[in-house]
Amino acid sequence: MSIEIIVLAAGQGKRMHSALPKVLHRLAGKPLLAHVLAAARTLAPRRVIVVHGHGGAEVRAAIGDAGVEWVDQAEQLGTGHAVMQALPRVSPDAEVLVLYGDVPLVRADTLRRLADAARGGLAILTAEAPDPAGYGRIVRSSGGRVERIVEHKDATPEELAIREVNVGFLAAGAAPLGQWLARLKNRNAQREYYLTDVVAHAVAEGVAVNAVKAAEWQEVTGINSRHDLAILERAYQNAAARRLLEAGVALADLWRLDVRGELECGRDVSIDVNCVFEGSVRLGDGVRIGPNCVLRDVSVAAGSEILAFSLLENAEVGARCRIGPYARLRPGAMLAEEVHIGNFVEVKASRFGAGSKANHLAYIGDAEVGSRVNIGAGTITCNYDGAAKHRTVIEDDCFIGSDATLVAPVRLAKGSYIGAGSTISKDTPAGELTVARARQITVPRWKPPRKG
Ligand code: UD1
Ligand code: CA
Repeated sequence: MSIEIIVLAAGQGKRMHSALPKVLHRLAGKPLLAHVLAAARTLAPRRVIVVHGHGGAEVRAAIGDAGVEWVDQAEQLGTGHAVMQALPRVSPDAEVLVLYGDVPLVRADTLRRLADAARGGLAILTAEAPDPAGYGRIVRSSGGRVERIVEHKDATPEELAIREVNVGFLAAGAAPLGQWLARLKNRNAQREYYLTDVVAHAVAEGVAVNAVKAAEWQEVTGINSRHDLAILERAYQNAAARRLLEAGVALADLWRLDVRGELECGRDVSIDVNCVFEGSVRLGDGVRIGPNCVLRDVSVAAGSEILAFSLLENAEVGARCRIGPYARLRPGAMLAEEVHIGNFVEVKASRFGAGSKANHLAYIGDAEVGSRVNIGAGTITCNYDGAAKHRTVIEDDCFIGSDATLVAPVRLAKGSYIGAGSTISKDTPAGELTVARARQITVPRWKPPRKG
């Protein structure tokens, strides 16, 4: 039987106090809904249908196509009503899995267990809640069989004492699910069509209800507030830190690390406190990351060191480089081996050959820098004339004195030696010293002005 998945995401998320639809709030840099969709996809479903309501257009735009079908639930009349909006899209012979878009950390193997438990009946996902307040409680018979789910607001004091709660996810055949849904009534405290009432309908028909218990609470925690989100973010980051430590990465502090994407590390990588890794980051063997660095879609080859307070984005760093402190590598910075980029140096869309250095206070943009080039403090490429960007070519073994201004397009031939303070607007010849600055003069017998 093929699996089709319905994800409920129409709720407003009032308690977030935000203009952003709840499922678009980010955990580990990714919208909550995107986490759920990623887990859903591991089951290779034939169809994924997302039910949206509040901010539907915004949700669709943020998630993109991603092989998802969208259904609008204009009025939020309850979880059962939400599933009914999607069910006409589902093939009658499919097995349906209902998930929530605001439960981001659910694991693929849990979804698999839930799907397997539904065979021929109804499966619900439950968990032992540390604090069950607000959740639907699982009411079992004296023999331990699941009888029904009672919502917090409808529960008796005895039922409120139950700690096994409804996560909200369920799995069943599309045809019987449709029949149970058709019988829902909204005669309850919230005047809603509760999806949870399908359990009692299934039991009344003598259908087996299998409760699958989640292994840990975090996995099935739904986000209702920014506080929930902050707690879950730390839980996620702590799990990421633990995985890195187990794989041999040295972390200065496992509580002060943020991975918002994929971080792949070689042997003996060390990461100091407060670093943020976004997108896809690869660190080779022996790479050391200093405190307070941000790396977004970057690869750093073996033996390189990124010193404190550096920001690297869409860049490639070769082996045994030294970057920072306070360096900024912008998109298209491509560094070969043993390159040094020092404090307050910004590099954009530029290649550096092996062994080249820009150690202090420089801006190198749209440039081709050869090998063994030395770029003095304060040197900048003037790559933009107000309309177009132009390239600067600095061939191998050039030496550029401090505070040079390189007006692009311009080429410094191999071994060019540029005097400090020069404004270079014409190509320079190989191996020669070029100086382009006013000559120094001393005015003889000059007298300072006098007052009065
Ligand atoms: C629901 C369950 C409760 C369970 C809890 C777990 C019901 C009646 N109750 O309660 O047993 O313990 O989840 O978090 O199902 N949604 C829609 N359309 C609607 C209403 C909700 O799409 O009309 C979506 C929400 O966006 C959310 C999910 O369904 O993703 C759950 O809705 P929510 O209002 O949070 O349900 P609870 O009252 O918390
Ligand atoms: Ca909820």
